[in-house]
Amino acid sequence: TFKLAVAGGGSTYTPGIIRSLMDRLEDLPLSEIRFYDIDGERQAKVVVAAKAVIEEYTDKIKVIDTTDPQTAFEDVDFVFAQMRVGKYAMRELDEKIPLSHNVVGQETCGPGGLAYGLRTIAPMIELIDYVEKYAKETAWIVNYSNPASIVAEGVRKLRPNSRVLNICDMPVATMRNIAAILGVEREELEVDYFGLNHFGWFTSIKVDGVERLPEIREHVYKYGLLTEDISKIDYRHADSSWIKTFKNIKLIMDHFPEYLPNPYLQYYLFPDHIVETSNKEYTRANEVMDGREKTLFETVKKYEETGILEDSFAVGVHGTFIVDVTVSLAQNLGKRYLVMVENNGTIPNLPADAMIEVPALITSDGPKPEFVGDIPYFYKAMIDQQLASEKILVEAIVEGSYEKALQAFTLNKTLPSAKVAKAVLDDLIEANKEYWPTL
Ligand code: G6P
Ligand code: MN
Repeated sequence: TFKLAVAGGGSTYTPGIIRSLMDRLEDLPLSEIRFYDIDGERQAKVVVAAKAVIEEYTDKIKVIDTTDPQTAFEDVDFVFAQMRVGKYAMRELDEKIPLSHNVVGQETCGPGGLAYGLRTIAPMIELIDYVEKYAKETAWIVNYSNPASIVAEGVRKLRPNSRVLNICDMPVATMRNIAAILGVEREELEVDYFGLNHFGWFTSIKVDGVERLPEIREHVYKYGLLTEDISKIDYRHADSSWIKTFKNIKLIMDHFPEYLPNPYLQYYLFPDHIVETSNKEYTRANEVMDGREKTLFETVKKYEETGILEDSFAVGVHGTFIVDVTVSLAQNLGKRYLVMVENNGTIPNLPADAMIEVPALITSDGPKPEFVGDIPYFYKAMIDQQLASEKILVEAIVEGSYEKALQAFTLNKTLPSAKVAKAVLDDLIEANKEYWPTL
């Protein structure tokens, strides 16, 4: 049996992840689950719901709820990392400050993502160091923490030998929609994919060896990446802003029909359209605070009053994916998933030290990427520019360099000019005084 810690235990995603773990106890038997957060008060509420879920399945798992790193990580086998530095209050500013300059306001893409990266690298490194100090030598950190691309680069640069597997559920969420459109199970899809996190393309989508990308393309021209019956989409991605995001795939494929894009590419390819159709006063952060956040805390309150747990946190791909990947790590299954790895020749015409997102076989020794080969110039050029923005941002953090932060912002395709980049950066510096290194 294994001991597992959830770092960022106060996340609203926690109960859903716990349900996914409980559904897979046969493949990943657990003796202990430890919840760790720097905000103990918030975590305590979420753990009420998490414990209630565990009790539905078993009374054999010891649960610990702590703000002390040693108590959390001593002797654990796995850590699920899902920190949100600055919580939703800072996400709201990451989205609204750029929008006030008519620039894309998004938590991981554009200046909002760069700002979030500036907040997250130091706490992420601190977490890795705690885990290396206290956990088993063979322990893995399976990391969802955003902005994943910048976090992956920061970890590669600052803790190159750490056992961190960086993952994102967007490729698999996109595959959920593709499967629903084709009327097959997600597990039946065999896909090829390349890119950076939140910046990649599906180049092939096969079922039983038959290429189905042309069919998907025709469907997207009519409906975007959605089925008429969106009940197959999990609760979170069925929110109106996510529906809009999946519809906008049509916009991308109308212009670039070759491959199926990751939905996040719309922020880089159509920033003008995104800004025009954004509500500057009410962004995704508001939608989440008024929706997912509120619902969870209300559910906990009701449970404490009545003993009845409403299942308001259905398991989506987000929960199942992290557990699938961890089962493959734990049991050395070598299953093939889309994850982040250091390039090292997987895509020969991209830098060897790029953190790319590609298919890899997940073994107990870590992810083994499949060879992809050279990619066409258009995609390479886009990736090189985005990669430069992210790598220079990490250098800015390490060196405390304002100049490099401005270079990183200027290189980001969501920013129209160095003048606007500087104005947005300066506002974000002010808003992030408590969090950022001094630039
Ligand atoms: C997807 C992305 C995550 C991102 C999340 C935001 O799952 O892969 O990186 O954090 O969406 O979702 P939310 O519901 O918080 O807007
Ligand atoms: Mn993601």
